[in-house]
Amino acid sequence: MSTQAYPQLLAGKTGIITGALDETSIAWQTALRAHAAGARFLLTNTPVALRLGSLQRLAEETGSEIVPADATSLDDLEKLYAAAQERFGQIDFLLHSIGMSMNVRKNRPYTDLNYDFLQKTYDISAVSFHKMLQVAWKRQAFRRGGSVVALSYIAAQRAFPKYDDMTEAKALLESIARTFGYHFARRDGVRVNTVSQSPTPTTAGSGIAGFQKMLQYGELLSPLGNATAEECADFIVVLFSDLTRKLTMQNLYHDGGFSTTGLSEALLDLLPDPPAATA
Ligand SMILES: NC(=O)c1ccc[n+]([C@@H]2O[C@H](COP(=O)([O-])OP(=O)(O)OC[C@H]3O[C@@H](n4cnc5c(N)ncnc54)[C@H](O)[C@@H]3O)[C@@H](O)[C@H]2O)c1
Repeated sequence: MSTQAYPQLLAGKTGIITGALDETSIAWQTALRAHAAGARFLLTNTPVALRLGSLQRLAEETGSEIVPADATSLDDLEKLYAAAQERFGQIDFLLHSIGMSMNVRKNRPYTDLNYDFLQKTYDISAVSFHKMLQVAWKRQAFRRGGSVVALSYIAAQRAFPKYDDMTEAKALLESIARTFGYHFARRDGVRVNTVSQSPTPTTAGSGIAGFQKMLQYGELLSPLGNATAEECADFIVVLFSDLTRKLTMQNLYHDGGFSTTGLSEALLDLLPDPPAATA
């Protein structure tokens, strides 16, 4: 990516970016672009992800500090915001880019979920968003005009059988964005939105059974094709910017037109012709 010509939409803004694991991560690409757009931020992920991933390289590239935090731990989140506030004062943006399901990992089908795993899915993939917002709320961490974005998927609205228990996690995540979005708008003039992104070849995405076919299906159905992680990152930068000041409590489809296309010619062409009718 050429960073020289990147619009300086986030000049002077500061924030927190969660969920960058490696270069494929939506959060990684967002960090690169937010940096190119003039922002300063803290990067955070779990201690395990910090060991397994390559976050240090991203931190060096973007001049950022890493603060380890498990997003399900209120103690860790308090420390994360304390570090952000110590460095920046109040912050302007937060990216929640966190998802994990043990049911998906262990290939448990939707009709045979393990309920301990399900609780974990909710806690990591959705309730962590509420926790990040609630800790920020109590600490008055966001500057007026700030913007929060979390990543979602269209399985929250439509049945995608292989998306497993992440389906309900995303429905919950989107609901939290609306309800907390109301409170943040009223008190602090802060926006909260979710971006419903195309299937994207990342570590989390590739864990879904049949992911390569979902990717292919998305490519064939979406008139603009699947949105990439880089394109998603560009969109998130716009959402963090002052150009979207009155956009809040929305789930925004960033999917090349997938969500509003019934059938594409590309998909239709793949189906065999029906047998000719006999008189
Ligand atoms: N890849 C896709 O197809 C796709 C499509 C739509 C939405 N999303 C969403 O995008 C977001 C980012 O995922 P990605 O696709 O970039 O994959 P990714 O694997 O790169 O990112 C997921 C991140 O979640 C982090 N994480 C897991 N448990 C955590 C915890 N307890 N505390 C803090 N962080 C934790 C992981 O370490 C990882 O960095 C997720 O919410 C995902 O559901 C992905």
